[in-house]
Amino acid sequence: MLETTHMLPTNFGSPRQMAIYQGARPSVPIGLAALEQKARESLDPAAWDYVMGSAGGERTAAANLAAFDRFPIVPRMQRDVGTRDLSIDLFDARLPAPLLLGPVGVQSIVHPEGELPSARAAAAIGVPFVLSTVSSRPIEEIATVGAPRWFQLYPSRVAELNASLMQRAAAAGYSAIVVTLDTRLMGWRDRDLERPFLPFLRAEGLANYFTDPVFRAALAAPPERDPAAAVRHWAGLYSNPAATWDDICALRDSTRLPLVLKGVLHPDDARRAVDCGADGVIVSNHGGRQVDGAIAALDALPVVVEALAGRVPVLFDSGIRRGADILKALALGATAVLIGRLYCLGLAAGGEAGVRDTVLNLLSDFDVTMALSGYSRCAQLDRSALGLAASARA
Ligand SMILES: Cc1cc2nc3c(=O)[nH]c(=O)nc-3n(C[C@H](O)[C@H](O)[C@H](O)COP(=O)(O)O)c2cc1C
Repeated sequence: MLETTHMLPTNFGSPRQMAIYQGARPSVPIGLAALEQKARESLDPAAWDYVMGSAGGERTAAANLAAFDRFPIVPRMQRDVGTRDLSIDLFDARLPAPLLLGPVGVQSIVHPEGELPSARAAAAIGVPFVLSTVSSRPIEEIATVGAPRWFQLYPSRVAELNASLMQRAAAAGYSAIVVTLDTRLMGWRDRDLERPFLPFLRAEGLANYFTDPVFRAALAAPPERDPAAAVRHWAGLYSNPAATWDDICALRDSTRLPLVLKGVLHPDDARRAVDCGADGVIVSNHGGRQVDGAIAALDALPVVVEALAGRVPVLFDSGIRRGADILKALALGATAVLIGRLYCLGLAAGGEAGVRDTVLNLLSDFDVTMALSGYSRCAQLDRSALGLAASARA
């Protein structure tokens, strides 16, 4: 029996819907356009562009959203959906819903408390919070919030630093390591280049490095005394574009936590990831922020699922905005999904309560959509839940 440490709040699903009808307004707008509008009004324009922008002409980001329209749900009637259970089992834990808050770096550009409000909202709902390597608050501080938590690693050029970060995460109670494969260079992002805006060069988003003993030992002066030199040191090591699969296999040996590789889009890479000892993969194109003109993540999902044939769980992100999107990703074989920009909009619009309400609205929408489509458990979903849009058949 798996440990169930977290339950969804009771004001979730149909009860939440009824409460809203009866006047209990969430702290942030429910509709996406209104939520975006409110978030935009509360953010510095450079921060808005950083969060919402994508690579190049932003075609991948648009493709991510459009892909969901090619897989319409075909609702089934007269099935018993009176009691629903959205929980899933993943890496020896039971999650209350098939959802994680994905790694989003440098949240201090969105909220003065950085990642803390998002982590607190995750704790309140019981969904895992995935802390980015380039977070504004360090691994240990986020751990004090008490959310179920995973740590995302951008492998640097320095093996000892990678090992140190993973050890810190394990010591602070993080229960999985996500290694992001798709960010060996920063994507060509027109909006950020135009300004120019890169928060790390202002020493934002480097808390995990500045508190790391291996990183600090290589500096002539501590980052508190000479932040510019610390930023220069970071810029020289944060990523290693020359790394290969052998380096990933080596990382596998540096942690006993489940290792999940993020950014897998090709079936051969998926197989390679598992051959290297990965315990899971995340099909993702980084929300379109890396390669302009890349395959929509949802289109890559069934191909990766087929290639892995159930060897490890396949997670998914890039483009999740609605409950129906979660249903579709699960029907195409994902075990769970991650969200990125959506919860950042909640963070910008309403801090911790904004993240909490945005996520609860999403999960309530998912619950109602599941019920109306004829499903009461995630495991019931498969490809038969979906049709194929006429435009995709042509
Ligand atoms: C502002 C921003 C910062 C991000 N930072 C990271 C990061 O530090 N590490 C990482 O693996 N992914 C990062 N991502 C990618 C997300 O984890 C996720 O893949 C993406 O946001 C999913 O697409 P969505 O925004 O459409 O949900 C970031 C995304 C955004 C929008």
